[in-house]
Amino acid sequence: MAFEIVATGRALPKNRITNDELSATVDTNDEWIRSHTGIGSRYIAGEDVATSDLAALAAKRALAALAKKTGEPENSIAESIDVIIVSTSSGDYVGGVPPTSCVVQNKIGAKNAAAFDMAVCCTGFIYGLEIASGLLSTGSRKRILLICAELLSRITDWSDRGTCVLFGDGAAAVIIEKTQAPLTGDGKRGILRCLLGADGGGAESLIVRRGGSKNPYRKNEVVDKPPHIEMDGRAVYNFAVKTITDVISKLLEQEGVGISDLAVIIPHQANVRIVEAARKRLGAPEGVFYTNMEEYANTSAASIPIALDELNEAGRLKKGDLIMVVGFGGGLTFGGALIVW
Ligand code: COA
Repeated sequence: MAFEIVATGRALPKNRITNDELSATVDTNDEWIRSHTGIGSRYIAGEDVATSDLAALAAKRALAALAKKTGEPENSIAESIDVIIVSTSSGDYVGGVPPTSCVVQNKIGAKNAAAFDMAVCCTGFIYGLEIASGLLSTGSRKRILLICAELLSRITDWSDRGTCVLFGDGAAAVIIEKTQAPLTGDGKRGILRCLLGADGGGAESLIVRRGGSKNPYRKNEVVDKPPHIEMDGRAVYNFAVKTITDVISKLLEQEGVGISDLAVIIPHQANVRIVEAARKRLGAPEGVFYTNMEEYANTSAASIPIALDELNEAGRLKKGDLIMVVGFGGGLTFGGALIVW
């Protein structure tokens, strides 16, 4: 029994904003953003778009991809989904009431699916893979729809140039199926292993302080800013470089393979300097990491599956390829997974 990603899809808002365009309203410039982060543009949702809209669009594209592959009608695939997991830290409603996953379930007609949200910030896709595998390993479940969707623009402080240049909106979905392929030995396929972790001691390094039970808005309070992300950039940078390096090394060791056995590593797309520093520490060859933050900036949980979908769509993932995904983010959380495509 194996747990295989059988289809992918992504959705980005229409509105693309370059660094130069952002510099018209923020005290920054293209040279600083590129040299410090590798980011060149980001997509920002219009006011009429909610997280569930992007999530549902990404999900529909994954459903359409599977329909094309199998010949099964799209609506019957939607009805065959056993569980919808939406990973988001910027869902439709405060505290997830109702869960964004339930809104999505209704939008895509997945009427037989259970649905729940999870908030693991930028590591959401990795946690989602492990949770989906666990759900598929028991009972009669066969198909899980894992969607990572973020509208970080709604919790961004656009007057803080230290954070607002970094983030973008986006969503991506994968369909994970229980198949008869082996999970170990010759011909093994699917999600081979996941490594998950957290360091709550770093919770304040990346935080939205207001609006929750710890710091609720009070009656008659004059609010100067809506809830927004605050970040200790240096602390997150150091955590990220160490984490990527450790997670990759551990996963390779556990699987008994080397970095040269990997077709590609897809890291969380936060900052090209973080990826490059980790690559040097690992002694990894140039080009083994796939990056696309130049186009999309940091879309939090959605960044890894957006990249996965791009590679899949371009036909750059071949059957049997060993690939690694590795993430880190608020929590602080971290994790990685090894997958045979
Ligand atoms: N445009 C222009 N100047 C900027 C700027 C911007 N957008 N943001 C900060 N600066 C300025 C600062 O004010 C500072 O100026 P000063 O020296 O005159 O005070 C200078 O640039 C250096 O700032 P600093 O914060 O020390 O830069 P840095 O080299 O640490 O880079 C980050 C900042 C955010 C790019 C870097 O810390 C980082 O990538 N951290 C990880 C962030 C991340 O990935 N978070 C998400 C994780 S999921």
